[in-house]
Amino acid sequence: MNPYQNLKTSIENGICTVTINRPDKMNALNRATVQEIGEAIKEANANKEVFSIIITGEGLKAFAAGADIKEFLGLSNEQGMAMAKAGQDVFQSIENSPKPVIAAVNGFALGGGCELAMACHLRVASENAKFGQPEVNLGLIPGYGGTQRLIRYIGRGKALEFMMTAEMLNAHKALELGLVNYVVPLEALHSKCVEILNEIKTKSPFAIGAVIRAANAYDETSKGFEAELTEFGKCFASEEIKEGINAFLEKRKPDFHTKHTQTV
Ligand code: COA
Repeated sequence: MNPYQNLKTSIENGICTVTINRPDKMNALNRATVQEIGEAIKEANANKEVFSIIITGEGLKAFAAGADIKEFLGLSNEQGMAMAKAGQDVFQSIENSPKPVIAAVNGFALGGGCELAMACHLRVASENAKFGQPEVNLGLIPGYGGTQRLIRYIGRGKALEFMMTAEMLNAHKALELGLVNYVVPLEALHSKCVEILNEIKTKSPFAIGAVIRAANAYDETSKGFEAELTEFGKCFASEEIKEGINAFLEKRKPDFHTKHTQTV
């Protein structure tokens, strides 16, 4: 029986596939889904039958279109920070997984969806995949590690550009910039991930875990994750986020300039 409300999981030949299962909401990551992803990763790491993990989204359109914007409504500064901390912790547990984790990005990977893909060790994208950090459209910033990991993958200049313009990157541009490892047709997405994981399976599991620990240690000097939490929380004390969220829910463009003044 599937123990999850928002995920599907399966294990085949030592590979655990975790599928975010909210296709009618573009697999948006509500809090319950983020928590369940954390549980699924923990379980896969505890299961001796599992050698590696694939994270993907249900359907043909979205990997995950971000945190669930409806859950942002009415949050205080502190509640915003707590939400980001819960997300950062789960995504860090993915990055720290001793078993290799691949994101099979099958469509939109926006906001928290892009951050989830970046927390995985490798990323394989389908040709229709689109990446982006569009939080500034809402009066917000990435809060699940995106401000830090995007810089690490594509460099500070391009990362700042994409976080400030909210521009979406297609799969080939993401490949060119180093955000993804491979781009393949949608129908070949799962098999490409399996091919990579089967190659990794021929290597020493202890050494693979050691590579992951050493690579993660390269990143640990940064205080950036804490700064991201603080700044994410502060956005909720601004008037602008109300306009951003209402605009999304009302399916219109936000107007941050004529109606609202910055309050933080
Ligand atoms: N949070 C909550 N709901 C979301 C969502 C999100 N991040 N992304 C999509 N949805 C919902 C939509 O509200 C819509 O629900 P409805 O049918 O009840 O109205 C449904 O998913 C389908 O989305 P829709 O916008 O109609 O699909 P589209 O194909 O026109 O556009 C996207 C797809 C991904 C471009 C668009 O949904 C989008 O911009 N999403 C928000 C992305 C974002 O800002 N993410 C960062 C959040 S911090």
